Amino acid sequence: MDSNPSSPVDETTIRRRRSDGVAPPTAKDYLNPDYWNQRFSEEEHYEWFKGYSHFRDLLLKHLLPNHSVLEIGCGNSQLCEELYRDGFKNLTCIDLSAVAVDRMQKKLSAIGVDGIKVLEADMLDLPFANESFNVVIEKGTMDVLFVDSGDPWNPRPSTVDKVMAMLEGVHKVLKPDGMFISISFGQPHFRRRLFESPGFTWSVNWNTFGDGFHYFFYTLKKGERPSDYKASGQISDMHSLSLFHEELEDEDYIFRTAVEELNT
Ligand SMILES: C[S@@+](CC[C@H](N)C(=O)[O-])C[C@H]1O[C@@H](n2cnc3c(N)ncnc32)[C@H](O)[C@@H]1O
Repeated sequence: MDSNPSSPVDETTIRRRRSDGVAPPTAKDYLNPDYWNQRFSEEEHYEWFKGYSHFRDLLLKHLLPNHSVLEIGCGNSQLCEELYRDGFKNLTCIDLSAVAVDRMQKKLSAIGVDGIKVLEADMLDLPFANESFNVVIEKGTMDVLFVDSGDPWNPRPSTVDKVMAMLEGVHKVLKPDGMFISISFGQPHFRRRLFESPGFTWSVNWNTFGDGFHYFFYTLKKGERPSDYKASGQISDMHSLSLFHEELEDEDYIFRTAVEELNT
């Protein structure tokens, strides 16, 4: 969580977050809308991975004030309100959780932020016309689809189907020169193979941010797949980045390690 970026993760913290009832008993619960509804009915704000200030510079390189921006899986993050305060007014947020949507609408209206559209919608079936948005952004939302992926080198077909449904929807609603920004703990050797699937016209690049453990800031620019594009290499050619658990914080740690436990 972003509120205490320097805190080390220890067993006490992990047990506390589990016993608080915030982190679910199993990582699979992150796929259950009832879990999110229950959680958002009690929790005011939780910023997955890192807050806006940590990746603002990376993000602002790609945004223009007149851009239409879709945020997928807003939860109770402050991302859309921070974007609004930075001058981006054409914002739409969606979440599968009706409670998150209701509370986000009420919060934005209470703090005088008008004009952000907040809708209940499923990222696997985006309810928007083709080529509607300049930018689609998600933070930690796609990662939820991986909680029951099995072997990350060889995810279950059901996981791949869901991720592809999401990516195809995002690709479709992006304008011809639009950009998908994905903020994730998923390492490039796992994510690239999905991002670079045939049929997508976007180029795939990434940066990292964060101290200690680095999160990935992927930028997928539609229409810019190089003509000499070659899909990412074979799995065996790639090197795993080492993951320093002690550098992940609070629930990010639980999320990540629970996913790993579940998938071994
Ligand atoms: C890990 S949280 C990330 C929340 C927020 N983006 C942040 O950075 O703090 C995942 C969010 O995705 C939402 N979500 C899960 N499945 C979804 C789906 N199929 N469509 C849209 N939102 C979904 C959850 O309700 C939750 O708000």
